[in-house]
Amino acid sequence: MSREENDSIKEKIQQLKEMREAIILAHNYQLGEVQDIADFVGDSLDLSQKASQTDAKVIVFCGVHFMAETASLLSPDKIVLLPDENAGCPMAEMVTAAELREMKKQHAGASAVCYINTTAEVKAECDICCTSSNALKVVSTLPEGKPILFVPDKYLGSYVSTKSGREFVLWPGYCPTHQRIVAKDIVKLKEHYPEAKVIVHPECRSEVVALADVALGTGGMLRYVKESEDDAFIIGTEIGMIYRLRKENPLKRFIPATEQAICPNMKLITLEKVLWSLEEMRFRVTVPDRLKDAARETVEKMLNVS
Ligand code: 13P
Ligand code: SF4
Repeated sequence: MSREENDSIKEKIQQLKEMREAIILAHNYQLGEVQDIADFVGDSLDLSQKASQTDAKVIVFCGVHFMAETASLLSPDKIVLLPDENAGCPMAEMVTAAELREMKKQHAGASAVCYINTTAEVKAECDICCTSSNALKVVSTLPEGKPILFVPDKYLGSYVSTKSGREFVLWPGYCPTHQRIVAKDIVKLKEHYPEAKVIVHPECRSEVVALADVALGTGGMLRYVKESEDDAFIIGTEIGMIYRLRKENPLKRFIPATEQAICPNMKLITLEKVLWSLEEMRFRVTVPDRLKDAARETVEKMLNVS
């Protein structure tokens, strides 16, 4: 796309956004061009908080389906649009409500906690949900002496279990994108850049997390880098994160753990699709009435803890 075409799309998005009284929210993994036109860029927790607080009539959610669904749960009177209806999260699809009900049956009395990367149907079955940034805090509010059923991410669950010392029953879900980051990549990069701090997302494999200086969600990574006196960082997460880290810290160096950690679903959202979304008011994301109250309660409990 030429620079003129790009500018013209941005201008049209701006005009339509005002006309529709819309806000554009974007996740940290979105393409740079999408992050640049967003009103707010953040991690899953930041975005759900923004969605619950905005006065806008329309939320254009540049992220994946479960994020738009969470926005719709928290802002039921608003129109929530996902610019590409195929932008899903494969990890969120790895556990169904029926499977979770069966798990609950086998562990009666346990607390059921879901990662925010789940469908509304699964959220409706849980006591509380969490993101990678507040998982430890959420777990600390749960009754002692009872196991914690955690779905769907086995790596985040295992990380929080180790950190909290609580007994977790894990579901075998994982993020196919973070799975692509392997220990030997980190070992090699550490040899090459011994001065660099290693920061990885807790969705990474346990052996990758064990090699890192720190495991943080995407919002935590931004705060850590800003406050750190170091100037080089090996980053183990989806590649889109590097764009925001570099933009906000131009004097620091960021080395991706691998160029392979691309979330194809996050990359489905483009500037053109944001424009079409606002022009045609598509693709609207809603939650079935039968699930709304229970799923919202699960998310609101998490927001109260945060
Ligand atoms: P964050 O909440 O850390 O942004 O993570 C969301 C996500 O989908 C990571 O893969
Ligand atoms: Fe889902 Fe992984 Fe993509 Fe995050 S990076 S949205 S967990 S597939």
